[in-house]
Amino acid sequence: KKVVLAYSGGLDTSVIVKWLQENYQCEVVTFTADIGQGEEVEPARAKAQAMGVKDIYIEDLREEFVRDFVFPMFRANAIYEGEYLLGTSIARPLIAKRLVEIAQEQGADAISHGATGKGNDQVRFELGAYALTPNIRVIAPWREWDLTSRETLMNYAAKHHIPIDFNKAGKKSPYSMDANLLHISYEGGGLEDPYWEPEEDIWRWTVSPEKAPDQPEYVELTYRGGDIVAINGTEMTPAQVLTQLNALGGKHGIGRLDLVENRYVGMKSRGCYETPGGTIMMKAHRAIESITLDREVAHLKDELMPRYASLVYNGYWWSPERQMLQTMIDDSQRYVNGVVRVKLYKGNVYIAGRKSDDSIFDANIATFEDDRGAYNQKDAEGFIRLNGLRLRIAAGKGRKLL
Ligand code: ARG
Ligand code: SIN
Repeated sequence: KKVVLAYSGGLDTSVIVKWLQENYQCEVVTFTADIGQGEEVEPARAKAQAMGVKDIYIEDLREEFVRDFVFPMFRANAIYEGEYLLGTSIARPLIAKRLVEIAQEQGADAISHGATGKGNDQVRFELGAYALTPNIRVIAPWREWDLTSRETLMNYAAKHHIPIDFNKAGKKSPYSMDANLLHISYEGGGLEDPYWEPEEDIWRWTVSPEKAPDQPEYVELTYRGGDIVAINGTEMTPAQVLTQLNALGGKHGIGRLDLVENRYVGMKSRGCYETPGGTIMMKAHRAIESITLDREVAHLKDELMPRYASLVYNGYWWSPERQMLQTMIDDSQRYVNGVVRVKLYKGNVYIAGRKSDDSIFDANIATFEDDRGAYNQKDAEGFIRLNGLRLRIAAGKGRKLL
């Protein structure tokens, strides 16, 4: 029997390797991906080898992650519950896809992951796996084992000589963290009190806005088909774009977020997030759309956006309805080309300018000066009279509004 495990190289998933070997008497295949979490992935090899793992997959998926998942999602301007930029949610479908592909390659019976039975991630991994491979078996140790406290888990690790990774200060982080090129997230620990403000040193990717440079920084973003293809005139790949925007955003204290969100399984959960590059992209994308999209197309996109965001949050990336929405969204981006100039300053992204050869902003029509007949103001009279017709009829009937 063979099981393919999504393996980070950290304590929890190392315990899972051992636990699977012991409890399922199976051969474990590990899969570790660099999706821009900012930690070396190579050390996972030696750790897996030390536990007797023979087939070890270590892959750099950063370009695929940004090109095929992050960028398409940003074309939709997706935001969950008004705030969350979906940093963790969007990475899971890619991991799910590789897990089942590797399972097929290896002739494995099952896949496994380290998400708990309380969260969203289990749903995202498993819905993705089932959508892509109907008969795949899933083993979710957190839903099965009795290592239900930090302490029992640590004891199990000690018993099996699994090294515990401490941070620079010689402590284990009190938070449950997850990182990729789009964001880093923190949950658990002191954050479980929603009124408690985390200490400044929780934040790893951004300086505090108070300590950000006193000089603003201007950046020029070039869009093609709704995606950023160049920064300050230099063409870049999707992963390069996001890496560079993260550095810029981090330096200016951009993209911190502290929120209580509704998990798909029904509970509320408090999380802190840093999404520096994504926060810049979100603002800039709306700016380029503002001059290139038809009004009704833009408004329809906005109506569907919360629906799209929930699909991503709840784990339905690999679903026909998300694909249908994506086709529509991608089609809307045909003319979303041009340049946005942003000003980064102490935690804020200001739009300084936007321009496009495909702009449908017409200064001749919009002008407050003499438009030389481009727009006939007399047309507005009938426009308002007809739009007001039903209001006048009802008012004439004596219907009261206040
Ligand atoms: N609450 C966020 C989400 O559901 C972040 C989850 C973080 N995952 C983790 N394994 N720490 O997308
Ligand atoms: C987990 O429970 O494994 C992390 C949090 C989540 O999935 O929502």
